[in-house]
Amino acid sequence: MIHVFNNIPKIVYGFGAISSAGAEITRLGCQRAFIVTDPGIAALGLLKPLEASLSAASITFDIFDKAELEPSAASIQQCADAAKAFKADCVIGIGGGSPLDTAKAALILLSNEGGIEKYFGMNMVPNPCLPAMFIPTAAGTGSEVTSISVLTNPQTGAKQGVVSEYLYARVVLLDPELTFGLPPHITAMTGMDAFVHAMESFVGLAATPLTDAVNLQAMRLVSANLRKAYANGGDTNARAGMLYAATLAGMGFSQTQNGIIHAVGTSLPSSCGLPHGLVMAALAPMGMSYNCIAAPEKYAQVAEILGATPCGTALDTARKGIDAMRDLLADVGIAHGLKAHGVAREHLEGTAQRAAGAKRLIDNNPRKANAQQILSLLEDHY
Ligand SMILES: [Fe+2]
Repeated sequence: MIHVFNNIPKIVYGFGAISSAGAEITRLGCQRAFIVTDPGIAALGLLKPLEASLSAASITFDIFDKAELEPSAASIQQCADAAKAFKADCVIGIGGGSPLDTAKAALILLSNEGGIEKYFGMNMVPNPCLPAMFIPTAAGTGSEVTSISVLTNPQTGAKQGVVSEYLYARVVLLDPELTFGLPPHITAMTGMDAFVHAMESFVGLAATPLTDAVNLQAMRLVSANLRKAYANGGDTNARAGMLYAATLAGMGFSQTQNGIIHAVGTSLPSSCGLPHGLVMAALAPMGMSYNCIAAPEKYAQVAEILGATPCGTALDTARKGIDAMRDLLADVGIAHGLKAHGVAREHLEGTAQRAAGAKRLIDNNPRKANAQQILSLLEDHY
């Protein structure tokens, strides 16, 4: 069996890492940087150190600060058109998952004919993209190191991914200072998304020793730091650990894809309007209890990372991990199950059907799942 571990070539990590943006863009041989972000990031003043660094290196730049929370085809096209008009020779994405997903989708349209829906799925993008630099401002999606852009399909309203190795950044700046302003509930949701990435990649059928290495360390870092970062957003060590965790988890799932938790979570109707990380957290115990009989040894390791004491068989320990996950969720203020977050029971059937059809995700899940099984599971854990 052939395994591939694809990755970005360079990460600059540390407090103040954003100040190396100008030097890194120069190193890439670029002079006209198109910055993609959202209105919130611009309002928080997080662009200022980026602009200062680019100006100091004589890089000309333009800013698109209209990335949407759920990037639509229209907003992506608008972003790509603006970058084209600016004659960008590189793209800088700065923000949470949505601005980075918008930047990636715009990169595709800068060197490939639109619309973006032509490229949903695995490796459908024919032409390479311009050089990209990504700078995350939240510790969660890991989008800065992945080859996927998650978008809303304009035809169906469902979330779908464009996966292409052309979407890997040429350089990523990881600056924990940028995450200090995240309020506790966002810290909790995004941090749980990172944990679920690492867990779903770790237990998945496509896992390898390389992905196990990054995923285990990502889960350890979340387990050690999420409560602290939630309790005190100014805890520098906890913020630093969480940012590494999210990036490591991104490296893991970018190779393997995710599993049933993401399949279900991304299949909820967009009308539910729930943040991605919140849904991942709410569904985590459900995914663990469904999957643990298929991969008890791996789930036992997850359980121990979450603080469970080993007992009896691997499956016994694995099951203790579900309680440990519920404890973690309680500590960071997230209720498990979908009912608590206002998802109506009538949405479960359609969600189960769409989840069973999310081949990219279900194919990696350690336990097979059809629509009926997923519906029963959702009802049991509602
Ligand atoms: Fe996710």
